[in-house]
Amino acid sequence: MTKKPIHLTVNGQEYDTFVSENATLLILLREELGLTGTKEGCGAGECGACTVIFNGKPVNSCMVLALECEGARIRTIEGEYANGELSDLQKAFLEHNAFQCGFCTPGMIMSARALLEANPHPSRKEIKDAMEGNLCRCTGYESIVCAIESVGVSKS
Ligand code: FES
Ligand code: FES
Repeated sequence: MTKKPIHLTVNGQEYDTFVSENATLLILLREELGLTGTKEGCGAGECGACTVIFNGKPVNSCMVLALECEGARIRTIEGEYANGELSDLQKAFLEHNAFQCGFCTPGMIMSARALLEANPHPSRKEIKDAMEGNLCRCTGYESIVCAIESVGVSKS
């Protein structure tokens, strides 16, 4: 299939590449740009493992066509680690044992990041509501909610 050119910014870095018309943002990130931190779970918009931030909003990258990302600003889990340091959310997930296999964690953290940017001090209910599209098969959600809540509290 013919590929089309695309220009976008991912984690502050500009990219010019080529994508198939039917490629998703998830495929673009993982296979064209080598950013494999974003995970594919269901591939059908159900699990949230592939969540990234698209122009400030969390999206399931398996449900977004890559060509829709022309000129977009995307943030992925790789952008959470900066200057040799884990982000506040990454540290909180470690401190609260908020993962086991870790497969859901990149998507969880990106959804939580979008929430905290829109609402720096979310209540537990607001956290649960914002995270309902992110599924975890291992940990149970209590520790994940506690981790996100702790970052919100620490911003007070
Ligand atoms: S892999 Fe995208 S929502 Fe499950
Ligand atoms: S930690 Fe394994 S799916 Fe969430």
